[in-house]
Amino acid sequence: MLFLDEKITMRKFIKKKELKEKIVMITAYDTPFARIADKAGVDSILVGDSLAMVVLGMENTINVSLRTMIDHVKAVARAKPRALIVGDMPFMSYEVSSKQALKNASLMIKGGAEAVKLEGGEEIIEQVKSLVRAGIPVMGHIGLTPQRFLRLGGYRMIGKKPFEEEQLLRDAEALQEAGVFSIVVEYTLSEVARKITEKLSIPTICIGSGPYCDGQVLVLHDLLGLTEKPPSFAKKYADLSKIAEEAISKYASEVRNGIFPGKEHYT
Ligand code: KIV
Repeated sequence: MLFLDEKITMRKFIKKKELKEKIVMITAYDTPFARIADKAGVDSILVGDSLAMVVLGMENTINVSLRTMIDHVKAVARAKPRALIVGDMPFMSYEVSSKQALKNASLMIKGGAEAVKLEGGEEIIEQVKSLVRAGIPVMGHIGLTPQRFLRLGGYRMIGKKPFEEEQLLRDAEALQEAGVFSIVVEYTLSEVARKITEKLSIPTICIGSGPYCDGQVLVLHDLLGLTEKPPSFAKKYADLSKIAEEAISKYASEVRNGIFPGKEHYT
């Protein structure tokens, strides 16, 4: 058992698989929520490009810029979490070449990320190898890769067809071989996630792929009830939308009725 106040490094993250301790990862995009997630004891905070949708109100992740991702990585890093900070490389910030991936991943690291996550398998192996050679911890992401939703034909489950399952297993092994320290497995059949998890020595982190991975990740806003249409695989642990709405309408009513500010709020 790792001590709760110890900084989670990439090596400690990997060790959890060996110790058969489930890894808990959650997204966060700003300082206050990074603090809260860290106090709750998560192992890793992912500054996911899901921020495009859940924070910035975009339709998908295609248009979120590297600049924006870095600003949010910096915000999370200011919370100085014990949890490992993983920064998501946005669409087209690494696909072109190893040189492009190195330049942009190094900006994420300089901004405070302690690892970067890239979507893809065999097709991005050269980029992954270059980052690992440069000393940058890399997390893979296979299965449903939302940055490629156009090519995939939407946000659909991956791995139902035998050729998809075979490709997923090849991708996972190639990524491990290239030096990633962990792989997110998104929205695959749970059996496929199980096979990948058993095959690899590095930890797998499931989202929507069932219970067999070494850990789980959820989007913070889905878990807290802050998204209008969360995916079916997300679990809502609280309804912060309702709590926030009630608090704000109470404030509005108090202003309108001359209750706020009260004597204690001014001199
Ligand atoms: O951007 C994100 O939040 C992600 C998770 C869904 C894994 O990539």
